Amino acid sequence: MYQSEIIGCGMYVPEKIVTNNDLAQVMETSHEWIIQRSGIEERRWVTPEVSTSDLALKACEEAIKNAGIDKKEIDCILFATISPDHDFPGSACFLQPKLGLTEIPAIDVRQQCSGFIYGLSMADAFIKTGQYKTILLVGAEIHSKGLDKTTRGRDVAVLFGDGAGAVVIRRAEAQNGAKDSKIFSTHLFAEGVHAKELWAAAPGSGLGSELRMNHEHVEAGLFFPQMNGKKVFANAVRRMCECLMLALEKNNLKLEDIDLFLFHQANLRINQMLAQELKIPEEKVFNTIMKYGNTTAATIPIGMSEAVKAGKLKKGSLVASAAFGSGFTWASTIYRW
Ligand SMILES: CC(C)(COP(=O)(O)OP(=O)(O)OC[C@H]1O[C@@H](n2cnc3c(N)ncnc32)[C@H](O)[C@@H]1OP(=O)(O)O)[C@@H](O)C(=O)NCCC(=O)NCCS
Repeated sequence: MYQSEIIGCGMYVPEKIVTNNDLAQVMETSHEWIIQRSGIEERRWVTPEVSTSDLALKACEEAIKNAGIDKKEIDCILFATISPDHDFPGSACFLQPKLGLTEIPAIDVRQQCSGFIYGLSMADAFIKTGQYKTILLVGAEIHSKGLDKTTRGRDVAVLFGDGAGAVVIRRAEAQNGAKDSKIFSTHLFAEGVHAKELWAAAPGSGLGSELRMNHEHVEAGLFFPQMNGKKVFANAVRRMCECLMLALEKNNLKLEDIDLFLFHQANLRINQMLAQELKIPEEKVFNTIMKYGNTTAATIPIGMSEAVKAGKLKKGSLVASAAFGSGFTWASTIYRW
């Protein structure tokens, strides 16, 4: 069986910075409330003409450059997003020609905040079985076009931002099997009984209406995300802890062996609680949520890019990532950078 490794990463966020005070101009909220509950100081929003695949393209171009490959070597695209360019086809199909590529498979991954690790797991499996050799995995989101930016939607609207992160994953040249493995393992979970604790109902065939989207749905705001914040928070801490410990156990590793923790960025308080419960030193957890908010499928690859730039993620670093999100879904992975 082959092994796989991440050989380059890239990111892109739109230029427009939206501060907490900017949000307080359009809804009843405050910088103090947002900072205290989530740690978020600002986030980025796109301008209207930009689509999710446009953001993804920029992150992918940087990842391809950093990987030092010719883009023609890519034999599969995986695109994790919950804010696609259009209802269908998937955003990977819109991204492929923008990259100047043709015919290679273009697959969307719809696992919300766990989407990047789900995609990594799929890429790893494709490479291990020999089906593909060089895979481009991107997580990108434009949340700003799907949020209720009034006081009605403030519990969700203040948490999310736009952005993209990408990696190139390639068959590793290692000769010694598992010992040299760069992606050690991935662990995926879901519990669909909680699907409606964080979801957007419309458009949807499950609405009991003749059309998947009608005027009543629009008026009721059914295309905006709805969230049970307290339940999501509690489950995020519990499940991320569990799946992280499982990944360590499966690889005979201890928490102390990990050089850097790159967790999903949903709420700084979730990651602080996770670190506190597991007694992980603060300097080993790399957070970006303060600047970008929750960019869902993009948080982990954005974290990789920023950690490389900050000198925190170096060649040979042993990294653990974990994520939790809508579904509920959660996932973990351990990899050598
Ligand atoms: C959303 C979240 C920050 C709310 O924090 P919380 O501690 O549960 O909220 P609190 O109980 O302290 O406050 C709720 C009150 O604040 C109000 N409120 C909600 N959003 C607000 C905002 N943006 N600004 C000001 N007040 C707000 C509510 O209306 C409520 O008011 P009430 O008590 O008068 O009814 C928190 O639950 C959370 O982060 N959950 C997880 C979210 C997440 O991670 N989502 C993505 C998962 S991938």
